[in-house]
Amino acid sequence: MAVNGTGNGAMAVNGTGNGTTGPSKTVLVTGGAGYIGSHAVLQLLAAGFRAVVVDSLGNSSELAVRRVAALAGEHARNLSFHKVDIRDKDGLEKVFSSTRFDAVIHFAGLKAVGESVQKPLLYYDHNIVGTINLLEVMAAHGCKKLVFSSSAAVYGSPKNSPCTEEFPLTPHNPYGRTKLIAEEICRDIYRSDPEWRIILLRYFNPVGAHPSGYLGEDPRGTPNNLMPFVQQVAVGRRPSVTIFGNNYATKDGTGVRDYIHVVDLAEGHVAALRKLFDNSSNIGCEAYNLGTGKGTSVLEIVNEFEKASGKKIPLVIGQRRPGDAEILFSVARKAERELNWKAKYGITEMCRDQWNWASKNPYGYESPDSPKQNGSNSH
Ligand code: NAD
Ligand code: WQD
Repeated sequence: MAVNGTGNGAMAVNGTGNGTTGPSKTVLVTGGAGYIGSHAVLQLLAAGFRAVVVDSLGNSSELAVRRVAALAGEHARNLSFHKVDIRDKDGLEKVFSSTRFDAVIHFAGLKAVGESVQKPLLYYDHNIVGTINLLEVMAAHGCKKLVFSSSAAVYGSPKNSPCTEEFPLTPHNPYGRTKLIAEEICRDIYRSDPEWRIILLRYFNPVGAHPSGYLGEDPRGTPNNLMPFVQQVAVGRRPSVTIFGNNYATKDGTGVRDYIHVVDLAEGHVAALRKLFDNSSNIGCEAYNLGTGKGTSVLEIVNEFEKASGKKIPLVIGQRRPGDAEILFSVARKAERELNWKAKYGITEMCRDQWNWASKNPYGYESPDSPKQNGSNSH
């Protein structure tokens, strides 16, 4: 495999595989260098799609794309990368002018809930202005098939779980509102032009990593989410995990969530694309929960991670985090029924793969002794 920089922010990743039939569909993946996007790109390539990644690398490393290429083997010839910020409409326009896309998966955006409260305009800029740019350029080029990364954050803190797609949409913070607004924009676009086919995927709590240990989550700064925090304690980067409240009305007093393995989530995108390309069904603009349908407490996750890693995770009991739901987990039956997708993995595999990634890359993609620093290994 060769990885060629073109000097203009674009990188072609050429495989040496000798497959004779080319992929039938080309998919633009915004945010494809990020945590979920990189796993999804790998699954897309394996499923026979051509993937063009655009990412600003604002919260990710180009090494993630190189590692996807290394893991993809001969499919790597169907992967290319452009360093583009989706707020730069001209930059997007250039990408669309050079390639005809059959569909777009739109992951790019900012996702830190706390930061969104501090810097709401930044979140509206990336997540709304960026999305509007993308949709305008898609429409101008006649590309009207979209899978959008929405979030369980659109539900806020529902009184009951499991949560269906019909639950009220009442996000609690600017981040969640950007997801709801983007969903509404998509619904309006479809109403204005029924040629659009749009699938809104509402992810619950993505965790875990590719089983190879070469792709995973690599947050910048202090992690916002539980699992990356636990992982950083396990590798010795932080002394302890603070549990945000142990007096909830749950099985052990700690918050309950629906953790989903990132590889299952990635597969959900392949399933969504297949639905978009299945002309026998009407799609419209439809939302789907992607979760396991199971609730797991903070203590259960920490215990499972201790088992997987053999490391003791010191815990400190802290205050509740403002805005946190007590219990939030999904019903994902709509996705099972209509997308033919169901999560396969449980928390044992999630913690196993999270630890595999953490132990191989204790400092993420920039780890000094990282096994595939230049993406040139194959396995
Ligand atoms: P991530 O930060 O790892 O990936 C997002 C990617 O988008 C990054 O590579 C970042 O560099 C890129 N990006 C950000 N702004 C951009 C811009 N203006 N132009 C181009 N690229 C830009 O996050 P992730 O966890 O992979 O999340 C992917 C998507 O899924 C996001 O839209 C997020 O809101 C959504 N989501 C994430 C979670 C979660 O817990 N991880 C849950 C629900 C929904
Ligand atoms: C999980 C549980 C915490 C950290 C967030 C976003 C949501 C979506 C997924 C993007 C809760 C507890 C956490 C810690 C803890 N992201 N916790 N100590 O809040 O369910 O969802 O990520 O769309 O929008 O809000 O995930 O991982 O932060 O928390 O006790 O240091 O772990 O209270 O019960 P959350 P999380």
